[in-house]
Amino acid sequence: MKDLKTTREKFQVKLTSIVSLPQLELLKLEYLSRNGIVNELLKDMKSLSIDERKIYGQQINKLKDEIAKQLDSTQKKLISSLNQSKYDVTLPGNMRKNGSLHVVSYAIEEISKIFEKIGFIRMSYPEVEWDWYSFEALNMPSNHPARDDFETFYIDHPENKEFGKMLLTPHTSSGQPREMMRLGKPPIRMINIAKTYRPNWDVSHTPMFHQFEGFCVDKKINITHLKGTINYFVKEFFGENREIRLRPFHFQFTEPSFEIDITCDICDGTGYIFKDELQTKNAKSRSFAEKIKCKLCKQGWLELGGSGMVHPNILKFSGINPDEYTGWAFGFGVERVMMMKTGVGLNDIRLLYEGDIRVLEQF
Ligand code: PHE
Repeated sequence: MKDLKTTREKFQVKLTSIVSLPQLELLKLEYLSRNGIVNELLKDMKSLSIDERKIYGQQINKLKDEIAKQLDSTQKKLISSLNQSKYDVTLPGNMRKNGSLHVVSYAIEEISKIFEKIGFIRMSYPEVEWDWYSFEALNMPSNHPARDDFETFYIDHPENKEFGKMLLTPHTSSGQPREMMRLGKPPIRMINIAKTYRPNWDVSHTPMFHQFEGFCVDKKINITHLKGTINYFVKEFFGENREIRLRPFHFQFTEPSFEIDITCDICDGTGYIFKDELQTKNAKSRSFAEKIKCKLCKQGWLELGGSGMVHPNILKFSGINPDEYTGWAFGFGVERVMMMKTGVGLNDIRLLYEGDIRVLEQF
């Protein structure tokens, strides 16, 4: 009976210190659970006579009821004080939106992974560059139109005796002499992805954009390596169904030079679409609907970018013997390839840099 008294007293003391529901729950377990204090008391009954057991049993049950009642009323008090507080704990919390990378950053990641798989080293070279690396070392004569100040952003800075004017790099090809001079000697397998700048602003141009430049120099490198590498990239990036072609072109720093074209995804490379089903994916097999010219491409082909075999002068300018080594290079626009991907549906490059979250969060 003494035990019952001290148990009751101890419980009272503990109950006064309870201020939260979890604490109350623990106290309940401590006293009323199967192995709790009250059930432990029952074990003492074994040593009692039958009459004594009756009385003792009744007392324990009374204690149990008392404890249960008090726990219950404390629980009610706690809940009502919670409801009166100025916070409604049942309301959903303020969710913070997760940020994400810009869609162009994702494209850059994807492009570098594709080239890393075949052993190309990712590089990036200065955005603020010298004329020498951007033009002179690339065989571009001083009267070349790209060197006009309405084609290139020049920086108001004194000229360097050796390297000429300071400018914002207009293409990633400045990475070619930079990489040759960094390594001193082939083999070179570089993928240079960087910001590039030209003063244009329309649906397909922003003054800042990104290019990626593939550059490979070694013994016995030829056009098949160029074509094979670009073909590999196109299949990885755009999908197995896209084809490429090389179209003769002219660049100062490659000879021969090519524009690379890729089959149009909208018309499936056929150059025409069906009037009522602009989105048809299987244009070749359709013969009954009225055909119209595909507006996106030229006869089934889209321009991907420039490429060619490295001009011997370029190797020479950067200290590499063109009789011993040959190479290829290509330079494509990151935004451009990203927009040409199936299903992207972005028809104005400027949307990428207006910073409108409603556009950007769609990617
Ligand atoms: N630099 C060229 C451009 O921006 C592309 C190019 C790169 C062409 C490499 C040939 C070789 O248009």
